[in-house]
Amino acid sequence: MKLENPDVRYLKDIENVVFDKEWLKEAPNIELYYMYRNLERRGSLRYDITVIPAQMLGSEFVKTKGHYHPKQYGELYIVLEGEAIYLMQKVNEENEVVDIYAVEAKKGNYVVIPKDYGHITINPGPESLKMANWVYDGFQSNYSLIEEKGGAAYFYTINGWIKNDKYSNVPDLRFEVPEVEEPKDLSFLN
Ligand SMILES: [Fe+2]
Repeated sequence: MKLENPDVRYLKDIENVVFDKEWLKEAPNIELYYMYRNLERRGSLRYDITVIPAQMLGSEFVKTKGHYHPKQYGELYIVLEGEAIYLMQKVNEENEVVDIYAVEAKKGNYVVIPKDYGHITINPGPESLKMANWVYDGFQSNYSLIEEKGGAAYFYTINGWIKNDKYSNVPDLRFEVPEVEEPKDLSFLN
């Protein structure tokens, strides 16, 4: 599959969710990740590829900005190269986090983003992360909560996981494992 004309995300696009504000003060507006959208279709589902080269944002590992979908739409990720950590969080009506968990995945693994979970992807490894996703093509992602809170409820840094103190009553981070085969039931996608 030929990858061309990506949508590029720069540091400026995600600066308010970066953990290391000291580093950010002096950092140039570097390229962070590359999104190639709509490479394949299955009905109303769209297949995208995202490439996130390995780099540090100061003390934090490079990551996507993070977003929520409208409640009824999940997402399926597939790691094509490298390693990923998917961080998923669910909030209540007061925007308090009621659940947050991470899935570490490597090449060939599948990771389900359940309906109603906001999510970010981190590249924790030394190599470029290349991942694909299947997602319903009919909604706009919502960035506002993650922007308002300056990120997800945890940051992944060289010192491990650090809680984001802009959220109150954040539960302990729990961990789940990825799937090794594509889930048979994709009804969580739409
Ligand atoms: Fe998404």
